[in-house]
Amino acid sequence: MTETAAHESDAQETAVRESAPALLSVQDLTMTFPGRRSVTGRRGAPVRAVDGVSFDLAAGQTLGLVGESGCGKSTTGRMLVRLLEPTSGRIAFEGKDISRLSPSGMRPLRKHIQMVFQDPHSSLNPRQTVARIISDPLLVQGWSASDARRRAAELMELVGLIPEHIDRYPHEFSGGQAQRIGIARSLSTSPRLIVADEPVSALDVSVQAQIVNLMERLRAELGLAYVFIAHDLSVVKRVSDRVAVMYLGRIVEIGDKKSLYENPQHPYTRALLSAVPLPDPAAERRRERIVLLGDPPSPAAPPPGCTFHPRCPKAQPICRTERPLLQPAVSREVACHFPGD
Ligand SMILES: Nc1ncnc2c1ncn2[C@@H]1O[C@H](COP(=O)(O)OP(=O)(O)OP(=O)(O)O)[C@@H](O)[C@H]1O
Ligand code: SF4
Ligand SMILES: [Mg+2]
Repeated sequence: MTETAAHESDAQETAVRESAPALLSVQDLTMTFPGRRSVTGRRGAPVRAVDGVSFDLAAGQTLGLVGESGCGKSTTGRMLVRLLEPTSGRIAFEGKDISRLSPSGMRPLRKHIQMVFQDPHSSLNPRQTVARIISDPLLVQGWSASDARRRAAELMELVGLIPEHIDRYPHEFSGGQAQRIGIARSLSTSPRLIVADEPVSALDVSVQAQIVNLMERLRAELGLAYVFIAHDLSVVKRVSDRVAVMYLGRIVEIGDKKSLYENPQHPYTRALLSAVPLPDPAAERRRERIVLLGDPPSPAAPPPGCTFHPRCPKAQPICRTERPLLQPAVSREVACHFPGD
């Protein structure tokens, strides 16, 4: 395909996506935590963990959310499922603003929006049987105990577990099986959106692919949408339609997976991708690694201007004073004064 044709095809894909109604629409989402108290009792500066995050997600699609530790991925995910109330901003699910709903206001929507956690064993109650763990969300929704148990057995089968093991306890399962239980629980109420926060990072590499395949199959069969949070860019590439790259609480680049991976525009995205191992050893030897200096700054004291400037190999004087906003580029948006090569 020529470059022009590729751009036209990207533009058509973008137009189709934009004409589809958003299942989830997030605008200017912000979370500021109060500063933690030191040993002397003094409170530190407030932590702006998420700072003006916006994106749309269509039904049946996956948005991958990536970035270094502490950039605000989990905080974003927890706001989306309303385990946390945003400091400001708007989260609309199927057009309804859910960002300020009380727990009772959220109850009817809970069944549509579920979460899968990183550590399957610590997210499952060790004193509950699998039957109880999977059927609990159904009992909350008013199902009878016998119907909920039957549904739990069906879900075990759907996620590749043996339904006869329904009365076992979490410790009787391996990590991968425990994550299947977590996924079955999240599916019990037939949600339309699942926020998966590092769902495979705690698992052995050999098991990760099985869980990713399972999630892909369930998405296709059940028409689910995922917000898939991970620091492993290879996994995100596999599962996502679109990818958002976060740095210090903000999205710095967001766009179609293919164009973002093939032609990253933000220096931070380029650095992250340059660290992903290539399958071809010769290509791996030839490729240029962009090594980022130091750690990300604290979100309690973000640098002025572009918050990436102290680590950016392309930084110019304007980067130290003017914050770059997300600007449309081909098939994506980028927050950088000097995007591209
Ligand atoms: N309850 C809290 N109180 C104060 N600060 C918090 C709280 N929860 C998170 N933070 C801070 O907010 C920032 C974002 O944290 P978050 O857990 O969202 O990052 P993350 O991208 O999920 O990181 P990781 O990849 O390590 O899971 C971090 O600086 C973290 O220390
Ligand atoms: S705005 Fe400047 S410092 Fe920030 S990423 Fe772009 S070039 Fe680097
Ligand atoms: Mg996290």
